[in-house]
Amino acid sequence: MEGRMCLPSSRPSLASDAPIGIFDSGIGGLTVAHAIAQAMPAERMLYFGDTAHMPYGDRSPELVRTYSVRIAEFLAAEGCKAIVIACNSASATAKAAVEACLPEDVPVIDVVAPVVQHLAHEGVKRVGVVGTRATIGSGIYGHSLREAQRANGLTGGRIEEWATPLLAPLIEEGWQSHELMLPVIQGYLEAAGWHAGKERHIEALVLGCTHYPLAEPAFRQVLGPEVDLIDGPSIVAAAVSAALRTRGMLAPADARQGQHEFMVSDLTDNFAQSAQRFFGEEVHLVPGGPWFQH
Ligand code: DGL
Repeated sequence: MEGRMCLPSSRPSLASDAPIGIFDSGIGGLTVAHAIAQAMPAERMLYFGDTAHMPYGDRSPELVRTYSVRIAEFLAAEGCKAIVIACNSASATAKAAVEACLPEDVPVIDVVAPVVQHLAHEGVKRVGVVGTRATIGSGIYGHSLREAQRANGLTGGRIEEWATPLLAPLIEEGWQSHELMLPVIQGYLEAAGWHAGKERHIEALVLGCTHYPLAEPAFRQVLGPEVDLIDGPSIVAAAVSAALRTRGMLAPADARQGQHEFMVSDLTDNFAQSAQRFFGEEVHLVPGGPWFQH
């Protein structure tokens, strides 16, 4: 996976009105895409959801890396000026491999690092993280948060990471507000040692899966008002904006050229219907991407 490029070295430099490439294992990353669309209305997005290979959260790191690199190559070959890994499981296991496969002028923004930087910058010491088995098993939040806390001179930090694999399928089923969500969230948190009313056990909970923002009210109900829920998508959108601004690659502020495109590797009626819930407005999914046979 050493630094080879998927685009010819003689290619013209990327225009600032090129699209931002965004990918996830499926449709959960649409929560991040929506935050980007809200924060940067002039930008055009090319979204790819790898619905044929999801869930990444239960796959091996090697397989998630293989899929992620293939997708990043595809998005770069489509002319994307930046790649957003809108999946915690892929961010946790594949960021370095994705960076290594892309030309240096294509920035890669993942969903973990901006949240970690935000927490360290805000001086949050006691942090809980919930996510898929792949994300939690990688220990990425713990490692990088401890490092960022040290760099910010914070001592006495505590990070607890809890795998909550039943939540993404329940949310995908549209059950994020179902009464069953509460005992499932509570069961996971209590099994991990969290107890309602325990004095500021954690100050903040990172919803470390791009599906979970839809279940924020259920998390809020279980955790109460004392614990901050970290709004990953808007933090990531700000990081994407900063990365493009630094490189002088923000789209011109006048009207956006063209529509967003939303592709999935396997299109079913269920994905087509659920996509709208994740994006918060109408989305037209089409089959496409690196595995698509014309
Ligand atoms: N969207 C993925 C994430 O953020 C979770 C879904 C999956 O397991 O594929 O980790």
